[in-house]
Amino acid sequence: MSRKKIALIGAGNIGGELAALAARHELGDVWLFDIPDKVGLAQGKALDLEQNGAVLGYDAGIKGTASYDDIAGADVVIVTAGVPRKPGMSRDDLLSINLKIIRSVAENLKSKCPNAFVIVISNPLDAMVYEMKKVTGFSREKVVGMAGVLDSGRFQLFLARELGVSVKDVRAMVLGGHGDTMVPVLSYCTVNGVPVRQLIPAERLNAIADRTRNGGGEIVKLMGTSAYYAPASAAIQMAEAYLRDEKRLLPAAAFLDGEYGYKDLYMGVPVVIGAKGIEKIVTIELDAGEKAMLDKSAAAVRELIEASKKL
Ligand SMILES: NC(=O)c1ccc[n+]([C@@H]2O[C@H](COP(=O)([O-])OP(=O)(O)OC[C@H]3O[C@@H](n4cnc5c(N)ncnc54)[C@H](O)[C@@H]3O)[C@@H](O)[C@H]2O)c1
Repeated sequence: MSRKKIALIGAGNIGGELAALAARHELGDVWLFDIPDKVGLAQGKALDLEQNGAVLGYDAGIKGTASYDDIAGADVVIVTAGVPRKPGMSRDDLLSINLKIIRSVAENLKSKCPNAFVIVISNPLDAMVYEMKKVTGFSREKVVGMAGVLDSGRFQLFLARELGVSVKDVRAMVLGGHGDTMVPVLSYCTVNGVPVRQLIPAERLNAIADRTRNGGGEIVKLMGTSAYYAPASAAIQMAEAYLRDEKRLLPAAAFLDGEYGYKDLYMGVPVVIGAKGIEKIVTIELDAGEKAMLDKSAAAVRELIEASKKL
């Protein structure tokens, strides 16, 4: 059986970390793709990571390229192509620049990787993944956006720190769009089965939910660019669920066709990821406050998608 082929479009901060994780988890052979001006960066990172494999002892081929021919037939494609935020910018400020980039990437993936499971990371996430599906024409099972696993991880960390418990015991989900309107879902948030609302007063919970919503911005402010370790780990978790048919239930941006009352929209909802891609969109009951927040988030995503249609 031949190894799986993993193509990473964008060899920047997240792309490099994605390659490192994919190789370390031995998910398959990795191609790091970037524009011709940056092909040296892609090839240099690839060579460094192959040497890392000799030190750490993992088997994965890692190559850098600027040619779509090299990534033809990839099983998984993870897209980080585009520009990240700078301090003071919102994700939506990236729309016009990244939209052009995603369109050109999608055109190429359409012909070169027709059977791939495509995970989009580039921001503004919900609009970029919508565009990816639209241009490639791939099924909604095969085009997904990464945001929920990352935002939920941030939420889980802040809750664990508040309670002085292990992050391993905190389960929480963040749904909705990947922007200021994202919805940290408190009604399903537990510490090893104990509802978090029994453990943390409402006022503190709201402050933690707010910090989660601004979790990306907090890092951009500190280091002048976006986070990359946790975003890469989150996307690799999704890729691994697909490649190993793990059937993980994860929050991810999925194309909604009536689920939760929304149509023709990508937004973060719980999904099951297995060998067929998104195998199920899971509908959960939300309390009235959460549903109202989700409606607001859906409206913000819709606005962004409408704005992209004009560009
Ligand atoms: N979804 C999320 O949760 C999440 C989290 C963090 C960052 N992001 C987003 O991910 C994206 C990447 O972030 P980063 O920190 O890796 O940025 P980066 O600038 O380090 O890397 C982006 C890379 O994309 C490349 N690129 C540009 N145009 C391209 C094209 N047409 N084809 C191929 N590659 C191209 C650039 O040359 C660069 O190397 C940003 O849009 C950022 O906002 C999303």
